[in-house]
Amino acid sequence: LDAVSVIRAKRDGAALTDAQIDWVLDAYVRGEVAEEQMAALAMAICWRGMDRREVARWTAAMIDSGRRVTIPDLDRPTVDKHSTGGVGDKITLVLTPLVAACGAAVPQLSGRGLGHTGGTLDKLEAIPGWRSDLTKDQFEAQLRDVGAVVAAAGPDLAPADARLYALRDVTGTVESIPLIAASILSKKIAEGTGALVLDVKVGSGAFMKTEEHARELAETMVALGTDSGVRTAALLTDMSAPLGRTAGNALEVAEAVEVLAGGGPADVVELTLALAREMLTLVGLDRVDPADVLADGRAMDVWRRMVTAQGGDPDAPLPVAAEHHEIRAETSGVLTGVDAFAVGIAAWRLGAGRARKENPVSAAAGVTLRQSRGDQVRAGDVLAVLATDDAARIPGAVDALAEAFTVGPAAEPVPPLIRGRV
Ligand code: URA
Repeated sequence: LDAVSVIRAKRDGAALTDAQIDWVLDAYVRGEVAEEQMAALAMAICWRGMDRREVARWTAAMIDSGRRVTIPDLDRPTVDKHSTGGVGDKITLVLTPLVAACGAAVPQLSGRGLGHTGGTLDKLEAIPGWRSDLTKDQFEAQLRDVGAVVAAAGPDLAPADARLYALRDVTGTVESIPLIAASILSKKIAEGTGALVLDVKVGSGAFMKTEEHARELAETMVALGTDSGVRTAALLTDMSAPLGRTAGNALEVAEAVEVLAGGGPADVVELTLALAREMLTLVGLDRVDPADVLADGRAMDVWRRMVTAQGGDPDAPLPVAAEHHEIRAETSGVLTGVDAFAVGIAAWRLGAGRARKENPVSAAAGVTLRQSRGDQVRAGDVLAVLATDDAARIPGAVDALAEAFTVGPAAEPVPPLIRGRV
């Protein structure tokens, strides 16, 4: 076996054999297959695709490149959620303590943001003192005692994916259904969760721009999870506009805490409850109503314990940016669109995200929307407030938002937040 023959086979449209897949991923991790060879193979997979058997084998080989986490025996079922990545997606912050408060254990190994989508760890790190690097013993103890833990995946969790994802990110090969499915499921299967709900985003702020592609991704992932013994379901959810009113780390934590306190934007509440119901159904806890658990403060209690257990102070003030800039409406009418991708890019340029994996992020930077789709606006009204530590970043963010807000003469239909289920 050699890299060039594997690349040629996929380039010419052949299905890769199990032996080819096992070999190429193993050799890549060992450094025997070069980055440029893997980049060529990833591009060939983008164009030619992979069938179900190939995706399953590719996923298994990525899991086998590292270690599987074994969840200790708990007195309750485990269930996790994964989103394919969006803008303003702070759902995990609310959902993890909520589902734990409903009686399940949520072992969540999370990632950082790359490109225009935010990462859960970056958001939680906005909380003074909070840390993501737990030892195996700390992770297990917190899962047992609190029932909710969000921690960084260690370097031995699907290491082939970590390398391949970074390579895909810089070679235009992220947007491939088999590669995304294998990337996500390899990490979630290796994490050891018993059940998994996938939030597959559709729209401008998502990797999948159309419902057809999102559904295909969801079906691929549900089949992969189910075949590996993880009870898996997926919701297709709208990402044409950002979720909630904030995009940026500390801003999103503050919004999540509002939801835990019984308030917050309606879309964040709706999606959190829908995902919670899916998770609870998968593990046979569907007699518990998560709306009650959110309303009566039990989810907030678990949030506070979860943050404290990881060194954070849930009462500490969150960082506030040094510089602010308002974006105002140029015309009067109804706000018919707030483009998720543009808001994501703006937040990223303000410092909330990173251009390279090793870059730090700003906790305080981001975008706060003052108006939502469907709102009546008048020329001069503030549509959004930009926050950053560095005023030099403001013009780039303003540019990103140049076409982000559409104001029309009349309200237009808004796509439903939950667009389907697989
Ligand atoms: N998230 C992942 O973890 N992997 C992908 O390939 C895309 C989104």
